[in-house]
Amino acid sequence: MALPAQRSADERPRTTTGTTTGPANGPETGPATDPANGPAQDAPDQAPEALRPHAEDAFADELAALAAQDDRPRPARWRLSPWAVATYLLGGTLPDGTVITPKYVGPRRIVEVAVTTLATDRALLLLGVPGTAKTWVSEHLAAAVSGDSTLLVQGTAGTSEEAIRYGWNYAQLLAHGPSRDALVPSPVMRAMSEGMTARVEELTRIPADVQDTLITILSEKTLPIPELGTETQAVGGFNLIATANDRDRGVNDLSSALRRRFNTVVLPLPESVEAEVDIVSRRVEQLGRSLELPEVPAGAEEIRRVVTVFRELRDGITADGRTKVKTPSGTLSTAEAISVVTGGLALAAHFGDGVLRPSDVAAGILGAVVRDPAADRVVWREYLEAVVREREGWQDFYRACREVSA
Ligand SMILES: Nc1ncnc2c1ncn2[C@@H]1O[C@H](COP(=O)(O)OP(=O)(O)OP(=O)(O)O)[C@@H](O)[C@H]1O
Ligand SMILES: [Mg+2]
Repeated sequence: MALPAQRSADERPRTTTGTTTGPANGPETGPATDPANGPAQDAPDQAPEALRPHAEDAFADELAALAAQDDRPRPARWRLSPWAVATYLLGGTLPDGTVITPKYVGPRRIVEVAVTTLATDRALLLLGVPGTAKTWVSEHLAAAVSGDSTLLVQGTAGTSEEAIRYGWNYAQLLAHGPSRDALVPSPVMRAMSEGMTARVEELTRIPADVQDTLITILSEKTLPIPELGTETQAVGGFNLIATANDRDRGVNDLSSALRRRFNTVVLPLPESVEAEVDIVSRRVEQLGRSLELPEVPAGAEEIRRVVTVFRELRDGITADGRTKVKTPSGTLSTAEAISVVTGGLALAAHFGDGVLRPSDVAAGILGAVVRDPAADRVVWREYLEAVVREREGWQDFYRACREVSA
């Protein structure tokens, strides 16, 4: 029998406290907290800051301000009202002047539909092409609704039923037989019993028969435990957000029975260059801060250039609608534009003159565009010669691209 697959999700310690939870981790507390030995000599006063804090920790101040000023009705066990959750995602200014930064840049209606779905008995499926912020939105929704975005199952071809239902602590099971103590709940099971938001990432990568485990959970709101002759019933506040990639469609399609349990919200690509530049600038600034990159003024011009190149190649036509271009095999998503610019800023900071230049982003763009060394290289060359070379003010960029493409 395979070991319980949810260990990885279950043993994720909360970054804020650094302590572990869950029965599987009982005796393995770290030296700093081991009562037998006392605090370790060199134990730091505080746990080091996580490289990437969870949304509820990174935006704790905003969430607290929203909760304090939110006087609208809240569904059972919700930390905020649906209105405040939408404001958290879309940004705004509170009556006392607190500024809530936008997390998601896109149509307001999409966020409203997503939030209200979570307040109903239907689960939420976020669908879209890669890099359209499905994971990002799911994390922030869970953080705002339940104050905890960590009840997460990562879907893969190897995800087992135990990862969605529960597994067993085999030492306990062998010593004492099946009991509640020996049972290791999955993140979904914990969300059910605590009235929280569970997340399933990449639902369509999970084998179809394993996906169907969710049907009873979502329609009956119960999880039978035949080994103990009992069940766990979901309490108010429980719901589930799944994400799935458009491009994976057909890999393990959702059964129609399961699909009926979800409200599907499709996240679109940013509708304009301005919107995409806005998204990339915001995220690059946040990432730069969390990576503690030396200050480099985020070159608006270079960001716009990266976004323009990505959009033109993605759409197969130049922004002015005049020239058709071939489309490379990569997705060239907003997420990749963010990586290219962040990489460029690191280059500028460490090896450049502290200003984001065309030569800092050229290699990153090339890497994102040329996925297939043969076919994509031709596409890139054609674009470079037919579009970039002719464009006013793009000469430096053209030369930088030629240099790295050689
Ligand atoms: N409309 C948007 N608003 C805000 N951020 C966005 C938007 N689109 C993309 N992003 C940013 O893109 C990054 C990647 O998003 P994310 O990983 O959530 O994409 P995804 O849709 O889950 O992709 P994949 O299908 O590859 O899993 C995030 O950092 C997010 O901030
Ligand atoms: Mg994702």
